[in-house]
Amino acid sequence: MTATSQIVSKDSIFVQEFARLSTPELANRYSSLLEIDNQPDFQLSIHKWEDLNFGELTFCYDLVKSNLKKMYSQSTVGWSSRKKKAEMKEFGLLYILLRHHSNLQGFISFMITIEEDELVVYCYELHLSSNIRNKGLGHILLDKMESIGRQERICKTMLTVFSANPALLFYTRHDYNPAEHSLTERKLRNGTVKLPSYYILEKKLL
Ligand SMILES: CC(C)(COP(=O)(O)OP(=O)(O)OC[C@H]1O[C@@H](n2cnc3c(N)ncnc32)[C@H](O)[C@@H]1OP(=O)(O)O)[C@@H](O)C(=O)NCCC(=O)NCCS
Repeated sequence: MTATSQIVSKDSIFVQEFARLSTPELANRYSSLLEIDNQPDFQLSIHKWEDLNFGELTFCYDLVKSNLKKMYSQSTVGWSSRKKKAEMKEFGLLYILLRHHSNLQGFISFMITIEEDELVVYCYELHLSSNIRNKGLGHILLDKMESIGRQERICKTMLTVFSANPALLFYTRHDYNPAEHSLTERKLRNGTVKLPSYYILEKKLL
């Protein structure tokens, strides 16, 4: 066995063991990390997707649909409700829900997984209701996911974002840069620059 394959198999075991943690175990493991210091009316909670109730899953799906359906439809990917619903229930996917008092207002979903032979935290979705944007709450959710990664000694986080999404600026301001395997801009013969449909971004955590 080569050194690389030993690392990969050690990482795969970690991914599998991490995915087996229950929601109460996750809540206990990250209880202090999920506290919000400067926004006392907002609360965070962590869940395996299997432990979200119907109302929570519907809230998350509806938010994704209203924020991204148009961008999916206009991209090379296309929108499929069936595929998006299946993607939101992938094995190992975790959700941090954001509530204002008891009202759901947003969420981040992510998975600890192996991407390009590296152990990473992969962010699947980050969405806030439109009325609570630009108050620093997106930053808090992203920061919590990154802190979980650091606590688990994971070196990198990754995500996919449409080039047409204004959230691209939000991520670049949070030190996310295109991964080596990301699609990139192409310069056409007439000089115009053609953006890819989406970028794969990454950020070093450690
Ligand atoms: C992308 C998204 C999650 C960002 O969340 P957000 O809460 O609006 O972002 P933040 O408030 O943390 O940061 C945005 C800007 O708000 C302002 N801001 C940050 N903290 C603030 C505060 N305490 N008070 C007021 N404004 C603040 C800043 O201008 C900040 O930009 P800067 O940090 O670059 O200066 C949110 O806009 C969203 O849900 N978008 C739609 C869904 C989407 O496209 N998701 C991405 C899918 S890949």
